[in-house]
Amino acid sequence: MAAVSDGSGKLPLVVLISGRGSNLQAILDGARDGSLPITIRAVISNRPGVQGLDRARQAAVPALTLDHKVYSTRQDFETALRSTIDELSPALVILAGFMRVLSPEFVMHYAGRMLNIHPSLLPKYRGLHTHERALGGGEREHGASVHFVTPELDSGPVIVQACVPVLPDDDPDSLAARVLEQEHKIYPLAIRWFAEGRIVLREQQVWFDGHLLSEPKRWPGCH
Ligand code: GAR
Repeated sequence: MAAVSDGSGKLPLVVLISGRGSNLQAILDGARDGSLPITIRAVISNRPGVQGLDRARQAAVPALTLDHKVYSTRQDFETALRSTIDELSPALVILAGFMRVLSPEFVMHYAGRMLNIHPSLLPKYRGLHTHERALGGGEREHGASVHFVTPELDSGPVIVQACVPVLPDDDPDSLAARVLEQEHKIYPLAIRWFAEGRIVLREQQVWFDGHLLSEPKRWPGCH
């Protein structure tokens, strides 16, 4: 049963992007083929003209741009973003390659109903350039994490992780591509769990099927 549905049994959500939108595409595909019980009310980009907006339009999903550069302060941008999102009344807000840091006030407004995907095995490698840093750190395993968003950057409770091996001849691009392939699997999975009411954030912890998740779900392949 859906956590909150729009009457059609589908969870209404909004996706925030900043660029290419390949994770968005995986979510659009899941909505279209019925594997995800969701309705995407809009895709919002903070950068104009990005590929992800085209992907939304092709899927007949409203594609909106709120260019952060036209606002004089971060607070003005966030006020506009928040009212745009809230007019759409989503039950879930998805950050899919959204590359603006959000203020604690903004994040708290969506507490328990905002997810992010990050290209590392959190808590390792928060922030940017995760693939370069994993290679530089001599990691033998790398991956991606889906987590609830909390005020501290990339620090919210992790729901599910996917792992990939780091190969001897990897460069940041080859490693990023291997991780991205897994991102496209675990993000729809976590969204489905949320839509089915299987995952809930309670007191800064993830509950899965009514039980405290003591460690993230691991995609097969993690050691
Ligand atoms: C993805 O690798 C995602 O994990 C990352 O940006 C990429 C977006 O790709 N997100 C972050 O680094 C957030 N901290 P996409 O636009 O093709 O989905």
